[in-house]
Amino acid sequence: MSSLTAIIGGTGLTRLDHLTLEGRQALTTPFGAPSAELVFGRLHGQALVFLARHGDPHIVPPHKVNYRANIWALREVGVTSILAVAAVGGIGAAMVPGKIAVPDQLIDYTYGRAHTFFEDDLDAVTHIDFSRPYTPWLREKLLNAGKVAGIDVIDGGVYGCTQGPRLETPAEITRMERDGCHLVGMTGMPEAALARELDIDYACCAVVANWAAGKQAGEITLAEIEANLVAGMADLATVLQHWVQS
Ligand code: HPA
Repeated sequence: MSSLTAIIGGTGLTRLDHLTLEGRQALTTPFGAPSAELVFGRLHGQALVFLARHGDPHIVPPHKVNYRANIWALREVGVTSILAVAAVGGIGAAMVPGKIAVPDQLIDYTYGRAHTFFEDDLDAVTHIDFSRPYTPWLREKLLNAGKVAGIDVIDGGVYGCTQGPRLETPAEITRMERDGCHLVGMTGMPEAALARELDIDYACCAVVANWAAGKQAGEITLAEIEANLVAGMADLATVLQHWVQS
């Protein structure tokens, strides 16, 4: 079976450096338009598709992303696996700003998002298995790429997905920590579940942009987020290079 990988880029990754551009496609889907044109190209020789989750330019907030259109459009062009890059806040002690983590579980705290394809015109009520929300082989491939690249990529962690666009209160983060979350972001759901509904392999590469609210003294600033993302994204580019070549 032929396979095609997509990278969905989040905050800090609106465009993929080193991608040799081969084409762009503006698609419409039964759910509306995706966040941006799909970008086709080669990364270090490997064909892939890139989609900017928040649009290009970066203007679509997390709760307004048309997750269904994004995943549907990628399936339409033959994508079989997705690597989702996401900026997150660090809750667990290991989730230091600038680090990259590959979560293995998630908790969904979002509300009001169109979160399933299995809604209307059904032949039967459908429940997908979501015991392992991130595809194990894709996670392994990422972790191996980190090893080969000599970059410390954190194996595992629970990603808690909040609604945004505001950041959390320290009390919310304390609750999430009690729930078992190690990372907090705003875009992991329903993206992961929609990919599973369409049988697309999916893993998340979380780049820690800041300590989550209450985990450091003072407020979280955009300047701090941006600075940490620059460092994290530089490491991510190296991991991706080894990932596509493995
Ligand atoms: N909370 C939620 N989403 C985020 C954060 C955060 O602290 N940092 C980057 N994305």
